[in-house]
Amino acid sequence: MSAEQWAEVDSYLAEKLVDEDQALRTARESSGETLYPGIDVTPNMGAFLGLLVQITGAVRILEIGTLAGYSAIWMARAAGPGAQLVTCELEQANADVAQSNIDRAGLSERVNIVIGAAAETLESLIRQHEDPFDLVFIDADKKSNPDYLDAAVQLSRPGSVIVIDNTVRGGSVVDAASHDPDIIGTRRMVDMIASDSRLTATALQTVGSKGWDGFTILRRK
Ligand code: DHB
Ligand code: MG
Repeated sequence: MSAEQWAEVDSYLAEKLVDEDQALRTARESSGETLYPGIDVTPNMGAFLGLLVQITGAVRILEIGTLAGYSAIWMARAAGPGAQLVTCELEQANADVAQSNIDRAGLSERVNIVIGAAAETLESLIRQHEDPFDLVFIDADKKSNPDYLDAAVQLSRPGSVIVIDNTVRGGSVVDAASHDPDIIGTRRMVDMIASDSRLTATALQTVGSKGWDGFTILRRK
């Protein structure tokens, strides 16, 4: 199988199954205006996150890594009126793009973009004894995944679900000798999960329009 075929199948399934309206389409296309074009989740992954929100009944959602707000729109919409989604974004320029996408989607009441280093935002949420989140989506700088996971667990409750994007990275996650900080961060995160008896987890490999990658999904016992 080639990358072109993965992308073709991804598009086929998205066109058939994923209902992307104008607000979502604009948000996805506007990732080109952010500092990191093209790294937002795919339509099929966005729809998966939305389904997960609805399957778990999540109404308090935490996202680490906003980019253009595409995944935030999927999750906040799925959660319904009265839901709260806090999304952490380092870059003001990305947050500006995301805010207009969220406003356009009519979700400004539900979504709060917090600009700054996510580690500091999370530390401050923990210090303020923020109510636990039902679902956390971690999709930011991969080298910090161990810290983000640690904070996500502290900000969750038994039954909360945590999803971490980009666990496989073209297969390089198995390279124990890697000097790539992103791979080191992801491998440390996997080790943390493996040794944490509070967590039940699995990770699934995916192929699609963004190549070969995957995500980790875990539930706090
Ligand atoms: C990268 C980051 C992502 O979150 C993603 O889904 C794909 C790629 C990156 O930093 O390269
Ligand atoms: Mg990602």
